[in-house]
Amino acid sequence: MADGKDSRTDRLLEHEYDGITEYDNPMPRWWLLTFAGTVIFSVVYVFNVGPVGNGKGRIADYEAEMAAAAALVPPTPTAVDPSQLLAMAKDEEAVEEGEEVFTTYCASCHGPDGGGLIGPNLTDNMWIHGGAPESVYKTIAEGVLAKGMPPWEKSLKPEQMTSVTAYVLSLAGSSPTNPKAPEGEPYTP
Ligand code: HEC
Repeated sequence: MADGKDSRTDRLLEHEYDGITEYDNPMPRWWLLTFAGTVIFSVVYVFNVGPVGNGKGRIADYEAEMAAAAALVPPTPTAVDPSQLLAMAKDEEAVEEGEEVFTTYCASCHGPDGGGLIGPNLTDNMWIHGGAPESVYKTIAEGVLAKGMPPWEKSLKPEQMTSVTAYVLSLAGSSPTNPKAPEGEPYTP
């Protein structure tokens, strides 16, 4: 052609809408290559991922990731260290914190000084469920639902659980104003 242009390009199509005309030029090479690339990638992708390909699949991947994360977090101890509880029972600050928890959540059933109301006397050496530190902790944590003692493990924070246990242990030998008659078996440390 006289202007040097390829005869295959810049050829006007025959239609015209509202004065708009268009060429029928091929897509640029870079665009076609990119497009072909995405098609090839999609095939590779399908065969690498998921139940379709040779990957493990997103559910297995999710479970593997969750297991790895769980391995990083130490499991919450259900068993507490008895000697730590005993030490806390002698620690003024811990006992004070425990008393606050006790006044809020426990006094309604065990009396404001632990002497017992609906619930048993917690100041004597007689225990229905054991008076060892870990037994007292366990009773508080798991409760005795059938007998009207709620479980506290889920509603109290771990530090509230240990401090209220320490407070209960610190009550040993105290003289409540209106003590309930002893129940259970004697416990001697
Ligand atoms: C709704 C009433 C109620 C509340 C609130 C309650 N308790 Fe009790 N608790 C009981 C009853 C009833 C028992 C006796 C269970 C039995 O007979 O087996 C008991 C038993 C216990 C025992 C075991 C006593 C033993 O002799 O073995 C401990 C320790 C105890 N409670 C601590 C607590 C603490 C700490 C709280 C507060 C965080 C609390 N309780 C809140 C009713 C209650």
